[in-house]
Amino acid sequence: MEKRTIGKAGSEGRGGMEPVVRLAHGSKSFAENAVLKDISLEVRPGEVVSVIGPSGGGKSTLLRCLALLETLDGGSLSYGELSVAEPDAGGRAVYGGKDVIAQARQRFGLVFQQFNLFPHMTVLRNIMDAPLVVQRRPRAEVEEQARALIAKMGLTGCEEKVPYQLSGGQQQRASIARALCLNPDALFFDEPTSALDPELTGEVLKVMKQLAAEDITMLVVTHEMAFAREVADRAIFMDGGRIVEEGPADQVIDHPQNPRTREFLASYAG
Ligand SMILES: Nc1ncnc2c1ncn2[C@@H]1O[C@H](COP(=O)(O)OP(=O)(O)OP(=O)(O)O)[C@@H](O)[C@H]1O
Ligand SMILES: [Mg+2]
Repeated sequence: MEKRTIGKAGSEGRGGMEPVVRLAHGSKSFAENAVLKDISLEVRPGEVVSVIGPSGGGKSTLLRCLALLETLDGGSLSYGELSVAEPDAGGRAVYGGKDVIAQARQRFGLVFQQFNLFPHMTVLRNIMDAPLVVQRRPRAEVEEQARALIAKMGLTGCEEKVPYQLSGGQQQRASIARALCLNPDALFFDEPTSALDPELTGEVLKVMKQLAAEDITMLVVTHEMAFAREVADRAIFMDGGRIVEEGPADQVIDHPQNPRTREFLASYAG
């Protein structure tokens, strides 16, 4: 395997067919509790990957490690050509410096269960804030993009509202617009609809389906099996900190091979 150097570009450069994100042999423990055990995964450009599995299986921890909100204990992590962490001789993950982490953070947008909008800012300001402050892009350009995303998310008329004036579904769609306004290579979702009632869930899943149809790269931790089956290209079933089964989403969900996957999915059907 090609040896990478943290922070250095490989031969293909950004925008090649290299995985948008690649984790190899990732491990993570909290004290004595091994939460991720030798996890390897890649998300390719345009792919929608869903991560499913029982509570406590490590799905959120995996997503948080990919999103650089937690540090891996072991393994390697890269974004396209950008290597973020590489194992040392003992297998311990060594991360790149602040500049590398900052570059990597520009590559993905995050959408969580709790919408995490700034409560004191209008929808428009929420969406424009990071592009202006972090990316230092021109205001006119950012505002034009933010307004287009608001329209696309079905939020026209909500520009000057603050989060508490919106429904949960509207807040989540504003969060998605906020993530998209950073022009990320991928969106990471952690149970984006589990705080919503069924009607509002449908609104959010509809916009996510639309993004999938536009080949936006997405990694989605979800309990929405129907959504995963229909929209995801690939499903990953995690249990006990391991990837137990993965494959085409319809195959994993409709015809699981592993007994643990079967048992988990059977609990949904019933
Ligand atoms: N910050 C933390 N400190 C200590 N333990 C943690 C921390 N975060 C997660 N854990 C533990 O790691 C394990 C995996 O948790 P994680 O949240 O990743 O699971 P999950 O698959 O997302 O579950 P759920 O479906 O309930 O969201 C659990 O045992 C949890 O208690
Ligand atoms: Mg979770």
